[in-house]
Amino acid sequence: MFKRTRYCGHVSEKDLGKEVVLNGWVHRVRNHGGVIFIDLRDREGLIQCVVEEKENPRVFELADTLRSEYVVAVRGTVRRRPPGTENPKLKTGDYELVIKELSLLNTSETLPFPIEEETHLSEETKLRYRYLDLRRESMKENLLFRHKAYQTVRKVFLEHGFVEVETPFLTKSTPEGARDFLVPSRLHPGKFYALPQSPQLFKQILMVAGFDRYFQIVKCLRDEDLRADRQPEFTQVDFEMSFVDEEDVMSFSEELIATLFKELMGVELKTPFERIPYSEALERYGSDKPDRRFGLELIELTDLFKNTEFMVFRRALEIGGVIKAINFKGSDLSRKEIDELTQFVQGLGAKGLAWIKVEDGRLTSPIVKFFSEEEKKRLLELTQAQTGDVIFFSADRRDAVYRILGNLRLYIGKRYNLIDNSGFDVFWVVDFPLMEWEEEEKRFVSLHHPFTSPREEDIPLLRRAVEEGALEEKKRLVHSVRARAYDLVINGYEVGGGSIRIHKRELQELVFKLLEIPQVEAEERFGFLLNALRYGAPPHGGLAFGFDRLIAIMRGLDSIRDVIAFPKTQKGICPLTGAPDYADPKQLKDVHIKVVE
Ligand code: AMO
Ligand code: AMP
Repeated sequence: MFKRTRYCGHVSEKDLGKEVVLNGWVHRVRNHGGVIFIDLRDREGLIQCVVEEKENPRVFELADTLRSEYVVAVRGTVRRRPPGTENPKLKTGDYELVIKELSLLNTSETLPFPIEEETHLSEETKLRYRYLDLRRESMKENLLFRHKAYQTVRKVFLEHGFVEVETPFLTKSTPEGARDFLVPSRLHPGKFYALPQSPQLFKQILMVAGFDRYFQIVKCLRDEDLRADRQPEFTQVDFEMSFVDEEDVMSFSEELIATLFKELMGVELKTPFERIPYSEALERYGSDKPDRRFGLELIELTDLFKNTEFMVFRRALEIGGVIKAINFKGSDLSRKEIDELTQFVQGLGAKGLAWIKVEDGRLTSPIVKFFSEEEKKRLLELTQAQTGDVIFFSADRRDAVYRILGNLRLYIGKRYNLIDNSGFDVFWVVDFPLMEWEEEEKRFVSLHHPFTSPREEDIPLLRRAVEEGALEEKKRLVHSVRARAYDLVINGYEVGGGSIRIHKRELQELVFKLLEIPQVEAEERFGFLLNALRYGAPPHGGLAFGFDRLIAIMRGLDSIRDVIAFPKTQKGICPLTGAPDYADPKQLKDVHIKVVE
């Protein structure tokens, strides 16, 4: 084997007339009778190599046995391609290598699929042969882009005095709202480690320890239902800062994100990023991570229909719900299309999807007969409806209406190509309530996590809420407490979230009380953090970016699987390794586990 002196993709003007050695994979071989062309590929790109039978019969003979994906080493001289044969699509398209020596390093069986961009392979097949899938140009570029992003992230952290610290994987549960992955302990029968959902508690403890500024590019593990933007193990760019407020955390985050976009893509993001309150995000888009790259905003109609005769709306009002609509302008949808959208919202648990079409300036729909003339007139005004528009209504509990119309809006946006893909819509969502009432469990839950600090001026409300006996009043008080939390949204994806934390033990206990985490349980689960808060915890706060999501968005990809080297399928399976798998009975015995059918 002769060892590489140049990468295929790096061959350039300055190599003309020089001898180089290339190592790589045969992308393609073409025998043009007496001349063989080999496209040789490595990580950095591809170059055409050529050998003529009459010039070099021995090498020609060997070249004729090459097939796609054989591994070779070639020695040869770089020359300019004859005029008219250049390939402008290729970085090295002006040059070729005249082969002097060729060494076959390995053969390859026929591939299950060709190494080409246009493939219609199942996710399962792509992941089973991930080593071949990753040979594709776009997948390779995704991972190389990600690699550069790590370097930029580290550089920005170092410039700002952050210290990189690793935190444990075998640990106790960190509450981020998902299920834990558990690891049985061999040395302690019946006991389990939990894999971290995030380094949240450890990074806070590092602040108590005085590290002042911490960061980590870290795997987080959450046993939740998977989607295109969710994996059971994913990567966070996690950081925490002491003696700061929200402005410091947000402006540092902006610098980090803006530097990434600038250095990796040459895109200038305008800083500071826009901020919108949580309540506005919900009111206008029905989502706390709105995709604002298209219209279809929610229109408030509760007041308009306060005396409605229409039973569907009446019932919503009676349970204290709301009536909202979206106007799909100029869509002129058919009944079949409306039925499809109705089915979509029913899949989300909606009771139905009332609609009205505007035809020749008039409202047409089975439900208009329930509306008064005044209601019709006001409806046209409020929705600014014109001929060709279709209005969809949702009447239900407020959270249900947001969920249904928010998702319908997104579905229509994608289905009817309303989204402007040309840029990046980057903004913060702020002013989250600290807690919300969970109707199913009949208790308050944190919107972020239980360590998020309320606004200083809202703390008295929290104290009153703890004392308050009447549930409705308690809810009112709790809901008006704002969190010192912020989420970063890009193109409708939550790419990061964080908060200023509670650093006083007494306030942390108060919050646990409202969340109905009993003292014993709080001690049991987070006693180590509560203890740390006794010994001089500085004010601190931080944030974590979802690195996979960020990279996917920067690359314009819908699925984070395309920026992860070895991801899991939607069902949480790794087709390459076959994980998860049954365990050997001996191993199970060692960890004191018996599987029951
Ligand atoms: P949070 O739970 O919001 O915050 O997570 C931070 C970011 O991580 C990304 N993310 C995911 N990405 C892929 N797959 C998943 N399953 C997944 N879950 C979350 C999101 C999200 O914005 N400890 C806090 C941060 C803090 O308060 O500092 C935390 O983990 O992009
Ligand atoms: P019904 O009276 O049940 O036939 O419903 C009349 C229309 O209202 C149908 O188009 C239903 O799809 C729709 N509908 C039913 N429940 C709701 C709801 N909660 N919000 C909006 N539309 C609804």
